[in-house]
Amino acid sequence: MLTQSQTGLIDIEHELVPDSLDIISFDTHLMGGVPYFFGHGSLHSIRMKLEEYSFDKLFLITSPKIWRLHGERLFQTLESFFPCEPVMIQDEEANKNISTLNRLCEELIDRRVSKDSILLSLGGGVVGNVVGLAAALIYRGIRFVEIPTTLIAQTDSCLSNKQGINGIRGKNHFGVYYAPLFIWSDSKVLMSESLRARRSGLVESVKNGLISDPLFLLFLEERLKRGLNLSEETLHEVVFRSTISKIRILEQDPTEKHYGVILEYGHTIGHALERLCQGKITHGEAIAIGMMAEAGISQELGMLTADEVDRHRCLLANLLSMDLHIPAGLSVERILETVEADNKRSLRGIRYILLERIGNVANPDGDYLMTVSKDVAAAALSEMVAAN
Ligand SMILES: NC(=O)c1ccc[n+]([C@@H]2O[C@H](COP(=O)([O-])OP(=O)(O)OC[C@H]3O[C@@H](n4cnc5c(N)ncnc54)[C@H](O)[C@@H]3O)[C@@H](O)[C@H]2O)c1
Repeated sequence: MLTQSQTGLIDIEHELVPDSLDIISFDTHLMGGVPYFFGHGSLHSIRMKLEEYSFDKLFLITSPKIWRLHGERLFQTLESFFPCEPVMIQDEEANKNISTLNRLCEELIDRRVSKDSILLSLGGGVVGNVVGLAAALIYRGIRFVEIPTTLIAQTDSCLSNKQGINGIRGKNHFGVYYAPLFIWSDSKVLMSESLRARRSGLVESVKNGLISDPLFLLFLEERLKRGLNLSEETLHEVVFRSTISKIRILEQDPTEKHYGVILEYGHTIGHALERLCQGKITHGEAIAIGMMAEAGISQELGMLTADEVDRHRCLLANLLSMDLHIPAGLSVERILETVEADNKRSLRGIRYILLERIGNVANPDGDYLMTVSKDVAAAALSEMVAAN
Protein backbone atom coordinates (compact mmCIF):
# COMPACT_ATOMS: atom_id res chain seq x y z
CA MET A 1 0.00 0.00 0.00
CA LEU A 2 1.32 3.45 -0.83
CA THR A 3 0.16 6.25 1.43
CA GLN A 4 0.59 9.61 -0.24
CA SER A 5 0.89 12.45 2.19
CA GLN A 6 2.69 15.72 2.78
CA THR A 7 4.75 16.62 5.80
CA GLY A 8 2.03 18.73 7.35
CA LEU A 9 -0.48 15.92 6.99
CA ILE A 10 1.68 12.99 7.97
CA ASP A 11 0.13 10.79 10.58
CA ILE A 12 2.88 11.10 13.13
CA GLU A 13 1.44 8.17 15.10
CA HIS A 14 1.84 5.98 12.05
CA GLU A 15 2.25 2.43 13.26
CA LEU A 16 4.80 0.07 11.86
CA VAL A 17 3.60 -3.21 10.49
CA PRO A 18 6.86 -5.19 10.29
CA ASP A 19 7.82 -6.51 6.87
CA SER A 20 4.78 -4.89 5.33
CA LEU A 21 4.79 -2.92 2.13
CA ASP A 22 3.39 0.04 3.96
CA ILE A 23 5.29 2.99 2.59
CA ILE A 24 4.87 6.58 3.58
CA SER A 25 5.79 9.09 0.95
CA PHE A 26 6.26 12.77 1.42
CA ASP A 27 7.66 15.64 -0.55
CA THR A 28 11.03 16.68 0.82
CA HIS A 29 10.42 20.34 -0.18
CA LEU A 30 13.83 20.49 -1.72
CA MET A 31 14.25 22.62 -4.79
CA GLY A 32 12.03 21.01 -7.39
CA GLY A 33 10.49 18.64 -4.83
CA VAL A 34 11.85 15.16 -4.29
CA PRO A 35 9.49 12.40 -3.16
CA TYR A 36 10.85 10.41 -0.22
CA PHE A 37 9.41 6.91 0.22
CA PHE A 38 9.95 5.52 3.66
CA GLY A 39 9.07 2.00 4.70
CA HIS A 40 10.08 -1.00 6.73
CA GLY A 41 11.19 -4.09 4.87
CA SER A 42 10.36 -2.16 1.68
CA LEU A 43 13.77 -2.30 -0.04
CA HIS A 44 12.77 -4.75 -2.75
CA SER A 45 9.46 -2.99 -3.46
CA ILE A 46 11.46 -0.30 -5.22
CA ARG A 47 10.94 -2.56 -8.20
CA MET A 48 7.28 -1.48 -8.38
CA LYS A 49 8.18 2.21 -8.24
CA LEU A 50 10.78 1.81 -10.99
CA GLU A 51 8.14 0.33 -13.28
CA GLU A 52 6.66 3.84 -13.51
CA TYR A 53 9.73 5.04 -15.43
CA SER A 54 11.12 4.23 -18.81
CA PHE A 55 14.83 3.59 -19.07
CA ASP A 56 17.24 1.46 -21.07
CA LYS A 57 19.26 0.17 -18.12
CA LEU A 58 19.67 0.44 -14.36
CA PHE A 59 23.12 0.65 -12.76
CA LEU A 60 23.09 -0.44 -9.11
CA ILE A 61 26.11 1.32 -7.59
CA THR A 62 27.24 0.25 -4.13
CA SER A 63 30.28 -0.82 -2.10
CA PRO A 64 31.51 -4.41 -1.61
CA LYS A 65 30.36 -4.35 2.04
CA ILE A 66 26.82 -3.15 1.28
CA TRP A 67 26.69 -5.53 -1.68
CA ARG A 68 27.20 -8.45 0.72
CA LEU A 69 24.70 -7.15 3.26
CA HIS A 70 21.86 -5.95 1.04
CA GLY A 71 22.97 -5.23 -2.53
CA GLU A 72 23.26 -8.69 -4.03
CA ARG A 73 19.71 -9.65 -3.07
CA LEU A 74 18.35 -6.35 -4.34
CA PHE A 75 20.24 -6.86 -7.59
CA GLN A 76 18.72 -10.33 -8.00
CA THR A 77 15.24 -8.84 -7.58
CA LEU A 78 15.87 -6.02 -10.04
CA GLU A 79 17.68 -8.21 -12.57
CA SER A 80 14.67 -10.46 -12.97
CA PHE A 81 12.57 -7.48 -14.11
CA PHE A 82 14.91 -4.99 -15.78
CA PRO A 83 18.25 -4.74 -17.56
CA CYS A 84 20.49 -4.07 -14.57
CA GLU A 85 24.23 -4.05 -13.88
CA PRO A 86 26.04 -3.79 -10.54
CA VAL A 87 28.97 -1.39 -10.14
CA MET A 88 31.24 -1.32 -7.06
CA ILE A 89 32.95 1.69 -5.54
CA GLN A 90 34.92 1.97 -2.28
CA ASP A 91 32.98 3.88 0.35
CA GLU A 92 35.56 4.84 2.97
CA GLU A 93 35.68 8.60 3.53
CA ALA A 94 39.25 8.58 2.10
CA ASN A 95 37.77 7.33 -1.19
CA LYS A 96 35.27 10.17 -1.50
CA ASN A 97 37.57 11.87 -3.96
CA ILE A 98 38.12 12.74 -7.59
CA SER A 99 39.81 9.39 -8.40
CA THR A 100 36.78 7.39 -7.26
CA LEU A 101 34.47 9.76 -9.14
CA ASN A 102 36.60 9.55 -12.27
CA ARG A 103 36.79 5.73 -12.15
CA LEU A 104 33.03 5.47 -11.65
CA CYS A 105 32.20 7.82 -14.53
CA GLU A 106 34.61 6.08 -16.92
CA GLU A 107 33.37 2.63 -15.92
CA LEU A 108 29.79 3.70 -16.58
CA ILE A 109 30.75 5.08 -19.99
CA ASP A 110 32.58 1.78 -20.75
CA ARG A 111 29.41 -0.07 -19.83
CA ARG A 112 27.42 2.11 -22.20
CA VAL A 113 25.46 4.22 -19.78
CA SER A 114 23.13 6.41 -21.81
CA LYS A 115 20.98 9.49 -21.27
CA ASP A 116 18.10 7.06 -20.76
CA SER A 117 19.80 5.08 -17.98
CA ILE A 118 19.07 5.44 -14.27
CA LEU A 119 21.78 5.16 -11.58
CA LEU A 120 20.72 3.65 -8.26
CA SER A 121 22.98 4.60 -5.34
CA LEU A 122 22.76 2.04 -2.55
CA GLY A 123 24.76 3.09 0.50
CA GLY A 124 25.59 5.70 3.09
CA GLY A 125 26.49 9.33 2.54
CA VAL A 126 29.71 8.52 0.70
CA VAL A 127 28.08 6.36 -2.00
CA GLY A 128 25.14 8.80 -2.21
CA ASN A 129 27.37 11.86 -2.63
CA VAL A 130 29.71 10.28 -5.22
CA VAL A 131 26.92 8.73 -7.29
CA GLY A 132 24.87 11.95 -7.11
CA LEU A 133 27.82 13.91 -8.46
CA ALA A 134 28.49 11.32 -11.19
CA ALA A 135 24.82 11.52 -12.23
CA ALA A 136 25.07 15.31 -12.43
CA LEU A 137 28.21 15.15 -14.60
CA ILE A 138 27.54 12.30 -17.03
CA TYR A 139 26.20 13.80 -20.26
CA ARG A 140 25.51 16.97 -18.22
CA GLY A 141 22.98 15.17 -16.06
CA ILE A 142 21.23 11.79 -16.01
CA ARG A 143 18.65 10.44 -13.57
CA PHE A 144 19.58 8.84 -10.27
CA VAL A 145 17.69 7.34 -7.34
CA GLU A 146 19.03 7.45 -3.81
CA ILE A 147 18.65 4.37 -1.59
CA PRO A 148 20.23 5.43 1.73
CA THR A 149 21.43 2.62 4.00
CA THR A 150 22.76 4.47 7.08
CA LEU A 151 20.82 6.36 9.71
CA ILE A 152 22.66 9.55 8.84
CA ALA A 153 21.98 9.11 5.12
CA GLN A 154 18.26 8.36 5.67
CA THR A 155 17.63 11.24 8.05
CA ASP A 156 20.15 13.79 6.88
CA SER A 157 22.43 13.57 3.86
CA CYS A 158 19.87 12.39 1.31
CA LEU A 159 17.61 15.34 2.15
CA SER A 160 20.02 18.04 1.10
CA ASN A 161 20.51 17.61 -2.68
CA LYS A 162 24.17 18.35 -2.01
CA GLN A 163 26.41 16.06 -4.04
CA GLY A 164 30.13 16.28 -3.58
CA ILE A 165 33.59 14.88 -3.05
CA ASN A 166 36.50 15.89 -0.83
CA GLY A 167 39.53 17.78 -2.11
CA ILE A 168 43.10 17.40 -0.87
CA ARG A 169 42.57 20.34 1.49
CA GLY A 170 39.14 19.64 2.85
CA LYS A 171 35.72 18.01 2.88
CA ASN A 172 33.13 18.51 0.16
CA HIS A 173 35.25 21.06 -1.69
CA PHE A 174 33.85 20.04 -5.07
CA GLY A 175 30.20 19.45 -5.72
CA VAL A 176 26.87 20.59 -7.07
CA TYR A 177 23.24 20.71 -6.02
CA TYR A 178 21.54 17.90 -7.92
CA ALA A 179 18.27 16.18 -7.05
CA PRO A 180 17.51 12.46 -7.24
CA LEU A 181 14.39 11.28 -9.03
CA PHE A 182 13.18 9.98 -5.68
CA ILE A 183 14.55 8.62 -2.41
CA TRP A 184 13.75 5.05 -1.36
CA SER A 185 14.44 4.48 2.30
CA ASP A 186 13.97 1.25 4.27
CA SER A 187 14.57 1.44 8.02
CA LYS A 188 15.10 -2.33 8.21
CA VAL A 189 18.49 -2.14 6.49
CA LEU A 190 19.71 -0.04 9.44
CA MET A 191 19.67 -3.12 11.67
CA SER A 192 23.04 -4.10 10.17
CA GLU A 193 24.70 -0.79 11.07
CA SER A 194 27.18 -0.69 13.95
CA LEU A 195 26.11 0.81 17.26
CA ARG A 196 28.78 3.49 16.83
CA ALA A 197 27.28 4.52 13.48
CA ARG A 198 23.77 4.54 14.98
CA ARG A 199 24.90 6.72 17.88
CA SER A 200 26.66 9.12 15.55
CA GLY A 201 23.61 9.35 13.31
CA LEU A 202 21.37 10.07 16.27
CA VAL A 203 23.48 13.10 17.20
CA GLU A 204 22.03 14.95 14.20
CA SER A 205 18.53 13.90 15.33
CA VAL A 206 19.19 15.29 18.81
CA LYS A 207 20.46 18.46 17.13
CA ASN A 208 17.19 18.87 15.18
CA GLY A 209 15.29 18.63 18.46
CA LEU A 210 17.55 21.10 20.25
CA ILE A 211 17.33 23.74 17.53
CA SER A 212 13.68 23.57 16.59
CA ASP A 213 11.58 20.73 17.92
CA PRO A 214 11.24 20.32 21.72
CA LEU A 215 8.44 17.75 21.30
CA PHE A 216 10.70 15.59 19.17
CA LEU A 217 13.39 15.94 21.83
CA LEU A 218 11.00 14.61 24.48
CA PHE A 219 10.18 11.73 22.17
CA LEU A 220 13.89 10.90 21.76
CA GLU A 221 14.50 11.10 25.52
CA GLU A 222 11.64 8.68 26.07
CA ARG A 223 12.64 6.22 23.34
CA LEU A 224 16.38 6.21 24.02
CA LYS A 225 16.29 5.83 27.78
CA ARG A 226 16.21 2.05 27.46
CA GLY A 227 19.49 2.06 25.52
CA LEU A 228 20.53 2.04 21.91
CA ASN A 229 19.74 -1.58 21.12
CA LEU A 230 16.48 -0.42 19.62
CA SER A 231 13.82 -2.78 18.34
CA GLU A 232 13.05 -2.58 14.63
CA GLU A 233 9.78 -0.81 15.45
CA THR A 234 11.45 1.84 17.62
CA LEU A 235 14.25 2.38 15.12
CA HIS A 236 11.66 2.87 12.37
CA GLU A 237 9.80 5.41 14.48
CA VAL A 238 12.99 7.27 15.44
CA VAL A 239 14.17 7.47 11.82
CA PHE A 240 10.74 8.57 10.63
CA ARG A 241 10.47 11.37 13.18
CA SER A 242 14.10 12.46 12.69
CA THR A 243 13.50 12.77 8.95
CA ILE A 244 10.36 14.83 9.52
CA SER A 245 12.18 17.09 11.99
CA LYS A 246 14.76 17.95 9.33
CA ILE A 247 12.17 18.32 6.57
CA ARG A 248 10.25 20.83 8.70
CA ILE A 249 13.35 23.02 8.73
CA LEU A 250 14.01 22.54 5.01
CA GLU A 251 10.37 23.43 4.27
CA GLN A 252 11.14 26.93 5.47
CA ASP A 253 14.48 27.21 3.69
CA PRO A 254 15.32 24.43 1.20
CA THR A 255 18.65 26.04 0.29
CA GLU A 256 19.88 26.13 3.93
CA LYS A 257 21.09 29.71 3.38
CA HIS A 258 18.92 31.65 5.87
CA TYR A 259 16.78 29.84 8.48
CA GLY A 260 18.34 26.55 7.37
CA VAL A 261 21.76 27.57 8.70
CA ILE A 262 20.47 26.58 12.15
CA LEU A 263 21.25 23.00 11.05
CA GLU A 264 24.88 24.00 11.58
CA TYR A 265 24.46 24.01 15.37
CA GLY A 266 27.57 22.45 16.90
CA HIS A 267 29.31 22.50 13.52
CA THR A 268 31.64 25.52 13.97
CA ILE A 269 33.62 23.70 16.64
CA GLY A 270 32.60 20.23 15.43
CA HIS A 271 34.10 20.71 11.97
CA ALA A 272 37.38 21.93 13.48
CA LEU A 273 37.54 18.82 15.69
CA GLU A 274 36.76 16.56 12.75
CA ARG A 275 39.56 18.10 10.74
CA LEU A 276 42.05 17.91 13.62
CA CYS A 277 41.21 14.31 14.50
CA GLN A 278 41.55 13.12 10.89
CA GLY A 279 39.09 10.24 10.96
CA LYS A 280 39.71 9.14 14.57
CA ILE A 281 36.28 10.41 15.56
CA THR A 282 33.11 10.28 13.49
CA HIS A 283 31.20 13.32 12.25
CA GLY A 284 28.49 12.70 14.88
CA GLU A 285 31.06 12.39 17.68
CA ALA A 286 32.62 15.71 16.63
CA ILE A 287 29.23 17.44 16.43
CA ALA A 288 28.25 16.14 19.88
CA ILE A 289 31.33 17.80 21.40
CA GLY A 290 30.68 20.87 19.23
CA MET A 291 27.09 21.22 20.48
CA MET A 292 28.19 20.82 24.08
CA ALA A 293 30.83 23.54 23.62
CA GLU A 294 28.41 25.85 21.81
CA ALA A 295 25.79 25.30 24.56
CA GLY A 296 28.53 26.40 26.98
CA ILE A 297 29.08 29.53 24.90
CA SER A 298 25.32 30.29 25.07
CA GLN A 299 25.50 29.91 28.82
CA GLU A 300 28.56 32.21 29.00
CA LEU A 301 26.52 34.79 27.09
CA GLY A 302 23.60 34.51 29.51
CA MET A 303 21.19 32.72 27.17
CA LEU A 304 20.98 29.00 28.10
CA THR A 305 20.57 28.11 31.76
CA ALA A 306 22.76 25.57 33.55
CA ASP A 307 19.79 23.15 33.47
CA GLU A 308 19.49 23.49 29.71
CA VAL A 309 23.22 22.84 29.27
CA ASP A 310 22.79 19.81 31.54
CA ARG A 311 20.01 18.57 29.30
CA HIS A 312 22.48 18.60 26.39
CA ARG A 313 24.84 16.51 28.54
CA CYS A 314 22.12 14.02 29.50
CA LEU A 315 21.03 13.55 25.91
CA LEU A 316 24.49 13.19 24.45
CA ALA A 317 26.53 11.59 27.24
CA ASN A 318 23.90 9.55 29.08
CA LEU A 319 21.48 8.52 26.32
CA LEU A 320 23.90 8.34 23.38
CA SER A 321 27.02 7.43 25.43
CA MET A 322 29.08 10.11 23.70
CA ASP A 323 32.42 11.18 25.14
CA LEU A 324 32.03 14.95 25.43
CA HIS A 325 35.61 15.70 26.42
CA ILE A 326 37.98 17.44 24.05
CA PRO A 327 39.87 14.60 22.31
CA ALA A 328 43.24 13.78 23.89
CA GLY A 329 46.18 15.70 22.47
CA LEU A 330 44.16 18.74 21.41
CA SER A 331 44.45 22.10 23.15
CA VAL A 332 41.76 24.77 23.33
CA GLU A 333 44.14 27.11 21.50
CA ARG A 334 44.68 24.67 18.63
CA ILE A 335 40.93 24.10 18.24
CA LEU A 336 40.24 27.83 18.11
CA GLU A 337 43.01 28.36 15.55
CA THR A 338 41.36 25.73 13.39
CA VAL A 339 37.94 27.32 13.95
CA GLU A 340 39.48 30.54 12.59
CA ALA A 341 40.09 28.75 9.32
CA ASP A 342 36.43 27.66 9.32
CA ASN A 343 34.42 28.84 6.34
CA LYS A 344 32.11 30.85 8.61
CA ARG A 345 34.90 33.34 9.17
CA SER A 346 33.77 36.69 7.80
CA LEU A 347 34.58 40.34 8.35
CA ARG A 348 32.42 40.01 11.45
CA GLY A 349 34.71 37.39 13.04
CA ILE A 350 34.00 33.80 14.01
CA ARG A 351 30.27 33.11 14.05
CA TYR A 352 28.22 30.42 15.72
CA ILE A 353 24.65 29.13 15.79
CA LEU A 354 23.61 29.57 19.42
CA LEU A 355 20.48 28.62 21.34
CA GLU A 356 18.60 31.21 23.36
CA ARG A 357 16.61 28.33 24.83
CA ILE A 358 16.01 24.67 23.97
CA GLY A 359 14.10 24.61 20.67
CA ASN A 360 14.98 28.19 19.75
CA VAL A 361 18.04 29.50 17.97
CA ALA A 362 19.10 33.04 18.87
CA ASN A 363 18.43 35.44 16.04
CA PRO A 364 19.63 38.91 17.06
CA ASP A 365 19.18 41.49 14.32
CA GLY A 366 17.68 38.87 12.01
CA ASP A 367 20.91 36.86 11.76
CA TYR A 368 21.13 33.30 13.01
CA LEU A 369 24.93 33.39 13.03
CA MET A 370 26.32 35.22 16.06
CA THR A 371 29.80 36.63 16.43
CA VAL A 372 31.53 35.35 19.56
CA SER A 373 34.86 36.55 20.95
CA LYS A 374 37.73 34.09 21.25
CA ASP A 375 37.79 34.54 25.04
CA VAL A 376 34.18 33.43 25.44
CA ALA A 377 34.70 30.40 23.19
CA ALA A 378 37.91 29.53 25.08
CA ALA A 379 36.10 29.71 28.44
CA ALA A 380 33.41 27.29 27.25
CA LEU A 381 35.95 24.87 25.73
CA SER A 382 38.17 24.91 28.83
CA GLU A 383 35.30 23.32 30.79
CA MET A 384 35.51 20.34 28.48
CA VAL A 385 39.18 19.43 28.83
CA ALA A 386 39.40 15.93 30.28
CA ALA A 387 40.87 15.80 33.79
CA ASN A 388 43.83 13.39 33.44
N1 LIG B 1 25.26 15.93 1.47
C1 LIG B 1 25.03 16.21 2.71
O1 LIG B 1 24.30 17.10 3.02
C2 LIG B 1 25.65 15.37 3.79
C3 LIG B 1 25.12 15.37 5.09
C4 LIG B 1 25.67 14.52 6.05
C5 LIG B 1 26.74 13.69 5.70
N2 LIG B 1 27.23 13.75 4.42
C6 LIG B 1 28.38 12.93 4.02
O2 LIG B 1 28.07 11.57 4.25
C7 LIG B 1 29.27 10.87 4.54
C8 LIG B 1 29.04 9.99 5.75
O3 LIG B 1 28.01 9.12 5.41
P1 LIG B 1 27.45 7.99 6.36
O4 LIG B 1 27.61 8.42 7.77
O5 LIG B 1 26.10 7.69 5.83
O6 LIG B 1 28.39 6.76 6.17
P2 LIG B 1 29.38 6.23 5.05
O7 LIG B 1 28.79 6.34 3.70
O8 LIG B 1 30.68 6.92 5.31
O9 LIG B 1 29.48 4.70 5.45
C9 LIG B 1 30.10 4.32 6.65
C10 LIG B 1 30.29 2.82 6.68
O10 LIG B 1 29.03 2.18 6.89
C11 LIG B 1 28.88 1.09 5.97
N3 LIG B 1 27.44 0.89 5.79
C12 LIG B 1 26.57 1.59 5.04
N4 LIG B 1 25.33 1.12 5.21
C13 LIG B 1 25.42 0.07 6.08
C14 LIG B 1 24.48 -0.82 6.63
N5 LIG B 1 23.16 -0.72 6.39
N6 LIG B 1 24.92 -1.78 7.48
C15 LIG B 1 26.24 -1.87 7.80
N7 LIG B 1 27.19 -1.03 7.29
C16 LIG B 1 26.77 -0.08 6.44
C17 LIG B 1 29.64 1.55 4.76
O11 LIG B 1 29.99 0.46 3.95
C18 LIG B 1 30.85 2.23 5.40
O12 LIG B 1 31.80 1.27 5.73
C19 LIG B 1 30.34 11.90 4.73
O13 LIG B 1 31.17 11.91 3.59
C20 LIG B 1 29.59 13.20 4.85
O14 LIG B 1 30.30 14.29 4.30
C21 LIG B 1 26.69 14.54 3.47
